[in-house]
Amino acid sequence: MKKGLFITFEGADGCGKTTQIKLLNEYLISKGYGTLLTREPGAKGLGEKIREILLNYDSEVSSNCESFLFLADRAQHVDCIIRPSLKNGNIVLCDRHTDSTVAYQGYGRGLDIDKINLLNEYATTGLKPDLTIVFDIDAETSLKRVGQNKDRMESAGLEFFKRVRNGFLEIAEKNPQRVKVINALDTIDNIHKQVVELVEKL
Ligand code: TMP
Repeated sequence: MKKGLFITFEGADGCGKTTQIKLLNEYLISKGYGTLLTREPGAKGLGEKIREILLNYDSEVSSNCESFLFLADRAQHVDCIIRPSLKNGNIVLCDRHTDSTVAYQGYGRGLDIDKINLLNEYATTGLKPDLTIVFDIDAETSLKRVGQNKDRMESAGLEFFKRVRNGFLEIAEKNPQRVKVINALDTIDNIHKQVVELVEKL
């Protein structure tokens, strides 16, 4: 049985979610909550190895293979790290989760979104976030923030990032209860305040 809270942070590369998830983690710890700060791909152990392949493999990777690697990482993460931590009553903060696969592999790479939803369900054994925060950023700023040193995913180009952004916004539109959108171009402090407000409602 799930006892804790599961919160996911989503958005295109360079949206600032990693800064925000750390700030929220510090805030929750200061309030005395038990937390787990984790990420996909690449939580501890096997996930780190899968992340290395996903981001740095420098030869052809098919979109299907890419999806299954993200899903394999997720299955391991949910079973071995997220569920046990929720069972212990922690607030689990996860930097990317199921919506990234829908946005990047579905909207970005053009794979069938219904099938990705099914595979996500399978990989997570039905676990759903209590809250998802999408940090919305336009594709041009996203790529500018990423800079010159791009990994395999970040090298996918402007049109790809436009589709990814649109994907996140459509996901939010379809799931208004779970998914909240914050303008990622606001200041770090203002964004943090909005994040805390959303989380305190839970
Ligand atoms: P990160 O830079 O936020 O750590 O994420 C790693 C990259 O992997 C980022 O470009 C988004 C991408 N990604 C997907 O394409 N699909 C997924 O399911 C996940 C979790 C991440």
